[in-house]
Amino acid sequence: MRTVQATRYVAPLREGGSVPALVEADDLGLYVVKLHGAAQGAKALVAELVVGGLVAAVAEAAPELGLHVPELVLVDLPLELSVAEPDPEIQDHLKASAGRNVGLDFLPRALPYTPAGGLQPGPALAAAVVWLDALCENVDRTPRNPNLLTWHDRLWLIDHGAARYRHHAGLDPAQAHGRFAAVRDHVLLPRAGSIEEADARLAPLVDEALVRRLVAEVPDEWLPPQEASLHAEDLLARVRGPRAFVEEAERARRA
Ligand SMILES: Nc1ncnc2c1ncn2[C@@H]1O[C@H](COP(=O)(O)OP(=O)(O)OP(=O)(O)O)[C@@H](O)[C@H]1O
Ligand SMILES: [Mg+2]
Repeated sequence: MRTVQATRYVAPLREGGSVPALVEADDLGLYVVKLHGAAQGAKALVAELVVGGLVAAVAEAAPELGLHVPELVLVDLPLELSVAEPDPEIQDHLKASAGRNVGLDFLPRALPYTPAGGLQPGPALAAAVVWLDALCENVDRTPRNPNLLTWHDRLWLIDHGAARYRHHAGLDPAQAHGRFAAVRDHVLLPRAGSIEEADARLAPLVDEALVRRLVAEVPDEWLPPQEASLHAEDLLARVRGPRAFVEEAERARRA
């Protein structure tokens, strides 16, 4: 994963609950920066990196699906840039976030996905997204808050900060096989094809080497080594199975 230096603060993205920052970096790219000083805390950044990275790896290994995520980078944010923000509350978040943060490549003029119209995923892509979100226990892909963008005639997955939510209470791999009742509220469930077929295609792609690499990419300051190995064990246990979430998602789809 690349690290870039933020060189210019552009604006806050007020449509997000965590108010991410739009910044320009030393590679002249624009990035949506998820701040470690935001209320959601460092665990949200762990989820962004692990789950966003997992989606990117699956997208690369199964290109026929048409999964897309903006590139993830680490963004070094100098304290000086926060003075450009006039809102004192947001400026406080920026100051508290000096140092390393997570950035997503900004997709200019991307439109929010709506179930009612516009670009729609086919059944295999929708099933893949449902499967990935059920695997990663992502509660933030609902009709009210789809966290999907349409850009250049493609669907892009963003905002994985609320995934892996069990880590807020401390992970226990013995609990990794649990249900994921929130799947019934998934925005793409009504469009999804067979979740069992998605499972057969995708589960073998999420192997130990991938999971360990994803977790190792998270900076130690957010995920100390001991927690990192627990995070990897837990995710591996969930993907190795028994994968009760597959049957559960399939039942919700047919209901
Ligand atoms: N890479 C991107 N390119 C363009 N726009 C983006 C990108 N990432 C986020 N946005 C915009 O910023 C908004 C907030 O981003 P995001 O959903 O990641 O933040 P959040 O604070 O975690 O949001 P939530 O309120 O869903 O918890 C998105 O709904 C989208 O409109
Ligand atoms: Mg969001």
